[in-house]
Amino acid sequence: MNNEMTLSFVAIEENEALARMAMTCFITPLDPTIEEISEFKTIVSEAVTNAILHGYECDGTSIVTVHALIEGNKISMTVSDEGAGIFDVEQAMEPMFTTRPFMERSGMGFTIMESFADNLSVESVIGNGTVVKFEKTFSPVTEVSRMR
Ligand SMILES: Nc1ncnc2c1ncn2[C@@H]1O[C@H](COP(=O)(O)OP(=O)(O)O)[C@@H](O)[C@H]1O
Ligand SMILES: [Mg+2]
Repeated sequence: MNNEMTLSFVAIEENEALARMAMTCFITPLDPTIEEISEFKTIVSEAVTNAILHGYECDGTSIVTVHALIEGNKISMTVSDEGAGIFDVEQAMEPMFTTRPFMERSGMGFTIMESFADNLSVESVIGNGTVVKFEKTFSPVTEVSRMR
């Protein structure tokens, strides 16, 4: 089954839950395992939180866009913002690197996303914004699981 969607919302913290729940509904037809759901939600949550917080400082007006494409049992996603951008992507992706230690950020967002997603990549330009791209392949839907 193929499917495609785009969701855009203003940068307020509350919209992290909106994106996480919408995306969880979107993958339901793939009949994901509990573990797959939990990993997928975590990736979405980390990427969207970064866009809202680091990209736009929760300004309440700028737009975060999530795009997703399901092809068979694989989802391909982008989380985009046109905000601050990242000075050094390689450094930002290192475990425990954060530019906001005073806000109790763990600096583990990218590390967690990379461990749960396939082919995660980050494109960013200072002052222009950031696009986080990843794929995730779910276990195939079997006839037995369809009958559950
Ligand atoms: N969308 C974004 N826009 C601007 N900067 C970002 C974005 N996403 C991540 N960053 C930068 O990368 C750093 C590391 O991100 P992450 O690993 O999620 O850790 P944390 O969010 O805990 O700081 C952030 O502290 C921030 O400086
Ligand atoms: Mg983060």
